[in-house]
Amino acid sequence: MEVLVVGGGGREHAIIKKIKENKEVSKIYALPGNGGIAADAECVAIGAKDIDAIVEFAVEHKVDYAVVAPDDPLVLGAVDALEAKGIPCFGPRANAAIIEGSKVFSKDLMKKYGIPTAEYEVFSDMEAALKYLETAPIPTVIKADGLALGKGVIIAETREAAMEAVHSMMEDKVFGKSGDNIVIEEFLTGPEVSVLSFTDGKTVVPMISSMDHKRAHDNDTGLNTGGMGTVAPNPYYTEEIAKECMEKIFLPTINAMNAEGRTFKGCLYFGLMLTPKGPKVIEYNCRFGDPETQVVLPLLESDLLTVMQAVTEERLSEVEVKFADKNACCVIMASEGYPEHYEKGFEITIPEEVANNVYVAGAAIKEGKLVTSGGRVLGVTAVEETLPEAIKASYGLVEKIHFDNAFYRHDIGARALAAKEEK
Ligand code: AMP
Ligand code: GLY
Repeated sequence: MEVLVVGGGGREHAIIKKIKENKEVSKIYALPGNGGIAADAECVAIGAKDIDAIVEFAVEHKVDYAVVAPDDPLVLGAVDALEAKGIPCFGPRANAAIIEGSKVFSKDLMKKYGIPTAEYEVFSDMEAALKYLETAPIPTVIKADGLALGKGVIIAETREAAMEAVHSMMEDKVFGKSGDNIVIEEFLTGPEVSVLSFTDGKTVVPMISSMDHKRAHDNDTGLNTGGMGTVAPNPYYTEEIAKECMEKIFLPTINAMNAEGRTFKGCLYFGLMLTPKGPKVIEYNCRFGDPETQVVLPLLESDLLTVMQAVTEERLSEVEVKFADKNACCVIMASEGYPEHYEKGFEITIPEEVANNVYVAGAAIKEGKLVTSGGRVLGVTAVEETLPEAIKASYGLVEKIHFDNAFYRHDIGARALAAKEEK
């Protein structure tokens, strides 16, 4: 069986390594993949947003199954286009991917169906937004409607900062058309939990919970990034909270999408905040999270491809989705300067015994050598019985990897450990 995976980051590397465990898989193509993924799949220089070229490649190579991992191609309709050529896919169609593609859509969906989320207002007119901010509660949260590489959210601590954010999104168009409409919402507090789930539109199966670390530096300082590390499971996410989320958030979301004629099939990611008033949705993503996937999939004991195919064929309720009763920690090694300016092209050395634990996000092959090519370069995951062991092991592996200008956070998992100790 030949499988095609669209995307080229650490998340895709984790998906590919897991799919490779299936004995029936004879070949995996990664479009575009990256220099590190090349060790596990055949990388083809087709961009993840080049839908026509992706479909042409899939048809020409008669691939048996396609996994579309990133948000952009999903929102652009990659799954619709592949399915139109008879290629079974994992991932939502465009009309369902809108749950991530438009914050206005997702907020209105939650309001209509009574799914707990922050109070909000939508604006398409800048003057109206500025007027609203004159009396809005502060801090407040400003969100661009469309995709913005994870940067479209601004937490404003002052009224001036909030107004400046509105100007930059609606007047200066820093996120392009994504800022034509904006959401201004209530500032919530509480621990954050990421829950990825498999769903075929009938059944929803949450995966093991996880915790992202979004800020660039230790103790949650520095700029927001795509994620500097993760642990799973997330100790804040108790069985009781999981039950509440299933009843009040997960099932209502699946049902709401069905009722709107936008059945969601694929991985639906719930970004949750456990507020004093109960769990609320901060955001939906229409795909696996990055770097959540790099801790969630290593704990998956069931065969990933089997589960994915069951989602495609709408028989998810018939398959087992089992996770190990263990802990995982992923530490991201990035290029100094990320998420702003950084240099590329430094040689990466990964000892053989560590390779299995490494998910490469930003690297290229140059003159036969693996070199850095992105802000986030790679993630190192360790799975152990306990959280302290997993943290210690992943940092132990990080020590063995080298590239110039590398930096990483030293406190991945520290907050989770403290939460465990509080209990
Ligand atoms: P997002 O890009 O939607 O994941 O948002 C980025 C981060 O902003 C989230 O992970 C939260 O930490 C924070 N955030 C988003 N919305 C809110 C909110 N309503 N209240 C407090 N923090 C928020
Ligand atoms: N780690 C957050 C995301 O994938 O959007």
